[in-house]
Amino acid sequence: MVRKIIIAGNWKMNKTMAEAKALVKELKGLVADVKAVEIVVCPPFTALNAVVEAAAGSNIKVGAQNVHWAGSGAFTGEISAAMLKEAGVEYVIIGHSERRQYFGETDATVNQRLKAALAAGLKPIVCIGETLEEREQGMTEKVLLTQLEGGLAGLSSDQVAGVVIAYEPVWAIGTGKTATPEMAEETHRYIRCTLKSLFDEVAEDVVIQYGGSMKAANSGQLVAQKNIDGGLIGGASLEAESFAALIKNAVA
Ligand code: PGA
Repeated sequence: MVRKIIIAGNWKMNKTMAEAKALVKELKGLVADVKAVEIVVCPPFTALNAVVEAAAGSNIKVGAQNVHWAGSGAFTGEISAAMLKEAGVEYVIIGHSERRQYFGETDATVNQRLKAALAAGLKPIVCIGETLEEREQGMTEKVLLTQLEGGLAGLSSDQVAGVVIAYEPVWAIGTGKTATPEMAEETHRYIRCTLKSLFDEVAEDVVIQYGGSMKAANSGQLVAQKNIDGGLIGGASLEAESFAALIKNAVA
């Protein structure tokens, strides 16, 4: 099975509506001829609709950065899957390490959000990854196993085939420190083996992105690894030229 390469830009809390539209308009022109990569941008909620409109008719898909598990109700500050669908969103990031670190996200809430996203027909990008302390203590595999078991609990194999996993070592996010391609591949291989033991052969179909200081200069080497199927990009996705170069180099 040939897995799709998916490269998603996680804009985090950046870009006003006007800035978001301008970025997508520029990006559209730069990546119009890219066929080998599924390109996704994930703006903040306020810019989603503007970006969906700006990206219409292009090869750029749109994702959100979070989704709540309930259909509606008294959950101040949250957004439902139906709201995202109506806005024209296709993907959604779930359980980013910043959500886990600053907003109390746990594997249990990741699991609830994931189930709601799948039920609504959104394509989830579930983030996992160890902190520097956990890596130094030799706990990387245990941490990832716990995150996968908890985050994906109760899913069928068919459902797992439609989930994108983003492996983002927390120590590599926004720090300029990338895992070496070999180090990342070793961890990606572990993630795929774990998925195989939990969900069987469907693990071969699961797209596993790398995230953490990926840029144009290293995307090629990272995505060339057997078990690295794209990337989740923060900093380098905030400018059209750097993001386009990263995308093109990934499959050059
Ligand atoms: P970075 O962020 O590319 O700026 O390291 C990645 C992410 O947090 O998804």
